[in-house]
This record gives sequence, structure tokens and C-alpha cells, in this order.
Amino acid sequence: MADTPDHHVPVLLEEVLNNLVHVTAGTYVDATFGRGGHARAMLARLDPDARLVALDRDPRAVSAAERLAAEDARVIPRKSRLSELASTLVQLDISTVDGVLMDLGVSSPQLDAADRGFSFRLDGPLDMRMDPDSGQSAAEWLNTAEEHDIADVLKRYGEEHHARRIARRIVAARPLETTAALAELVAAAVPQRGGGGKAKHPATQTFQAIRMRVNDEMAEIERGLEQAYAVLGPGGRLAVISFHSLEDRLVKQYFRSLTRPPALPRRVPIRHAEVATAARDVAGPLAPTPMELADNPRARSAKLRVIERLAS
Ligand SMILES: C[S@@+](CC[C@H](N)C(=O)[O-])C[C@H]1O[C@@H](n2cnc3c(N)ncnc32)[C@H](O)[C@@H]1O
Repeated sequence: MADTPDHHVPVLLEEVLNNLVHVTAGTYVDATFGRGGHARAMLARLDPDARLVALDRDPRAVSAAERLAAEDARVIPRKSRLSELASTLVQLDISTVDGVLMDLGVSSPQLDAADRGFSFRLDGPLDMRMDPDSGQSAAEWLNTAEEHDIADVLKRYGEEHHARRIARRIVAARPLETTAALAELVAAAVPQRGGGGKAKHPATQTFQAIRMRVNDEMAEIERGLEQAYAVLGPGGRLAVISFHSLEDRLVKQYFRSLTRPPALPRRVPIRHAEVATAARDVAGPLAPTPMELADNPRARSAKLRVIERLAS
């Protein structure tokens, strides 16, 4: 295992605590435990008889949750994807919860461990799986996918203007095995983007897009949102931190579908105010303060949205 600091600075921490933790004796789910930055702070606000279900798809994050559970009996650690949230809670015999947190994307320990293959700055095997025990690695996908599929992914998830050219070069250079080989190939394929020392690495969008494809992130979020809302009891809250405009759009649209009244046929003599909605907005979109950004530049694109399930 790579020798990296096993630490993740939680993003928008006060904002999450203030808007999510409202029943101090409740049952909460941290669906993306990471290294437990949010979870520890939630536990500090929760009563001795509260429960915190700590989930992640990454075995290293689950080990961290197990270590925390050994110190704090309120923590229930499990390996679970967002798309398995409902069945994981059924297995734990938990029917409703008071709050769910989803802090999307990758953790600092994932990015900073060369052997995970997420980073274009560190050379390592081209893997990028959050759960290295399941699914295809980035190398397996890139070395077998059709050129047009690779280009589509780079365009859709990375908004990469040079998607076709990069895809063509990838196919010509196969097999690709390391992050450094991919990063160099992309840097050579795209014109230098201006911006001096602070310019993004030219492979930023390509790596992000491949990571999203390898981990099926958009579908995971979609299923996770539906399952999280479904397990909330009345008054239960769902807090989601996103880092990417596509993720945030999905969250925003799903939350809107719950917080806005359904469209009424014309001439129905009911006003919108009289139609019950499934949920109400609690907060968001909230962005990090300049002070947080100065301490933690990785929080740059974070956005928090929180809703509350209304009595059904
Ligand atoms: C930004 S980090 C969370 C950091 C955490 N809040 C903390 O303070 O330490 C995101 C975590 O979510 C996990 N993750 C991402 N997508 C997931 C999914 N679909 N199912 C389960 N875990 C997921 C990643 O493995 C990673 O550990």
C-alpha cells in the first residue's frame, strides 16, 4: 500500500452539520464515509444512543470506518455502494433514518495514493476504481473500448473539446498501463491551455471523465438519491455535496422534482400552494467560504444542497 497521509479534510463541514443533524438521538447514514471527517463531526453532535451507519464502496474507507466503530459503538460500518443503500439498510433492519449525507467524488487518500491510479500527477497503474475488487479498471476499459465510446465519455463527462483527438491517440498507443503514460499522451495531444502556473493540467478533464465512466458515477448518484429519499422518515434530511456540474444538475433536478408541486392541468380549481409536495428545500446551493477555500483548495467546486422529507 502506498505510504500516503490517510487524511481527508471534510468540505462544507459546519454547513453540513447545521443543516443535516437536527435530531440528536437519531439514526444517520454517511453514505460516502471516506476517512470519516464528516462522520466524526456528526458523532460529536449526536447523543450516546444515536446511530451512524458508515458506508463506502472503497475497502480502504470501510477499514477506516471499522476502526472508528471499534472506538465508538454508535458507528455501524458496511461496504456498500450508493446504489445498494436501500438493501444495506434492510440487512441492518433499519427501516427509516433521520438523515443521509452523500459527499460525492473521490477522497484525498484516493487521489494521493499512486497505486490507486486516480492521479495524473503520480505515476501508478491505470486503475481508478473506487472498489478495486469489482468492475473493469481504467486500463482494461481504455485498452478495449471503441474509439467513439472513449471520445463520447471524454466529451460527456469531461467536457473535453479535444475528445476525438485524444481518443484517437489512446487507441493508437494501446495498450496503456500507467497514469503517467496517459497523462503524457493527453498533454501531447491537446494544445497548451494558457493561464501560467495556475493553469489546469491538460489531462484533468480526461482523467475525471474516465474515472466517472469506470465507477459508473452518474448512475450511482441517481440510484443513491432515490434510495436515500425513500429511507428518510418524515422530517428526515438528505444532504448532498457535489463537485461537478453534471452531478449538481442531477441533484438539483431530483430535489426539484420533490420540492415543487406537480404540474396541474389547466382549469383545475386548485392553487399550487394547496398541493402537497414530497419535500422542502432546507439549504443550498451553498458554496465554501473564501476562508475555507484558502485552507482547502480541493473544496473549490463543492456545492451543498439539503432537502427535508415532508410527512407523507
Ligand atoms: C469526497 S469522499 C468523502 C469524504 C468524507 N466525507 C470525509 O470527510 O472523509 C467520497 C467518498 O465516497 C466514496 N464513493 C464515491 N462514490 C460512491 C458510491 N457510488 N458508493 C459508495 N461510495 C462512494 C468514495 O470511495 C470516497 O471514499
